[in-house]
Amino acid sequence: MKKIEIAGGKPLSGNLKIQGAKNSVLPILAGAMLNAGKTVIHNCPDLSDVHSAFKILRNLGCDVYFSDNTVTVNSENINCSVIPSNLMRETRSSVMFLGSIISRCDEACISAPGGCNIGERPIDLHIKAFRELGIDITETDEYIYCKLTGEVLGGDITLSFPSVGATENIMLLTAKSNNVTTISNAAMEPEIIDLQNFLNAMGANISGAGTDTITIHGVERFKKDIEYTVIPDRIAAATYLCAVAGTGGKITLENVIPEHIDTVISILRKMGCQVLQYDDRVTLISGGKLKAIAGIETLPYPGFPTDAQAPIMAAFCKTKGTAIFIENLFEGRFKHIAELKKMGADIVQFKNTAAVSGVKRLRGAEVIATDLRCGAALVIAGLMAKGKTTVLSAEYIDRGYESMVEDLRSLGARIL
Ligand code: EPZ
Repeated sequence: MKKIEIAGGKPLSGNLKIQGAKNSVLPILAGAMLNAGKTVIHNCPDLSDVHSAFKILRNLGCDVYFSDNTVTVNSENINCSVIPSNLMRETRSSVMFLGSIISRCDEACISAPGGCNIGERPIDLHIKAFRELGIDITETDEYIYCKLTGEVLGGDITLSFPSVGATENIMLLTAKSNNVTTISNAAMEPEIIDLQNFLNAMGANISGAGTDTITIHGVERFKKDIEYTVIPDRIAAATYLCAVAGTGGKITLENVIPEHIDTVISILRKMGCQVLQYDDRVTLISGGKLKAIAGIETLPYPGFPTDAQAPIMAAFCKTKGTAIFIENLFEGRFKHIAELKKMGADIVQFKNTAAVSGVKRLRGAEVIATDLRCGAALVIAGLMAKGKTTVLSAEYIDRGYESMVEDLRSLGARIL
């Protein structure tokens, strides 16, 4: 088990270049098997979840070469349509391969995906949509077997919830088909736009990403060789802004798209931080003594991102006043609260609502990361606390942050 030991209480300052987006590159890697050719992807972050996706691609018959944040996928020879359960369990995004495998092989066999323990995370919306698109699906306790007997039907798929993964899976399944598919109530996250742009670079004909209606005009074939650069990771950017908001200091983030973190910047400004936005840079200045806000409610994009809820709650823990946090996306995404309370945080939780009252100081403690963003929140709290904090199960952090310890050390953090 990996651990991070922090001697907190010091303001941070410096510049950071933000990594490529984990939640963009994962569906794009699933798309890289569609073209039966060579795909070069730049700005690919070096994350454990990304390496899990590489293992799945290799298991399906692809050659995958990764160096210096560029991955080359050769998908000419797909010779398998099954993802073994041990690979499925490693990440949530493994389910994203379902659409691509069916598109290449007319069948697929997977088990339930893994991913951070932030709730039940069913895939019923994926399954329902795929059945409406003509896929025969048999579900057993262990496996989900999919078979395309005729062709992908097309038509209008209305999602009962704007699921990011279901939206992406439908795009991957229908990009190569003889019909037109419309997704209504589609997710509008920036990562959906990135996937649309990637697939269109491959020769697909998709429009509407970023709105709640996406139209996929199926094409007969894709270009064999393509090259693409992934957008910056908005959640990594939000995390580092929350860290300096909480510790005090000054940080400039390079390689960001400020509009992707509009809601986070707006909250941090309300909390008393000065935030300057440029084309691809954001600077935050914080005196460390933050002002209370009424609260934060997580919503699908363009609402406040659920992935930034734990990091900003950590930053809020030393603020004068009480804020109400409401988590609407995942029923199990408050696990960081028990750990923050070990450090002296004053938080009262009731179901998906938490009242966070700022305290004068946080004290270092031994805490346990239960998922990726919980781990990030505990590191932020450790940087803010007086004394030494040890974050156990810190390997969760490697799922989504390329070099958090080195990044924070470069800002002056005392990480042992
Ligand atoms: C993606 O997960 C992201 N992961 C998550 O990031 C992110 O928190 C989430 O979108 C919301 O923005 C990746 O992109 C790899 P959803 P996903 O389908 O696709 C329910 C991180 O920390 N739902 O939009 O799994 C689901 O249970 C991770 O980087 C169903 O009920 O999210 C949840 O309550 C965590 N049935 C809600 O919808 C389904 O078939 C949102 O899920 C699918 C989802």
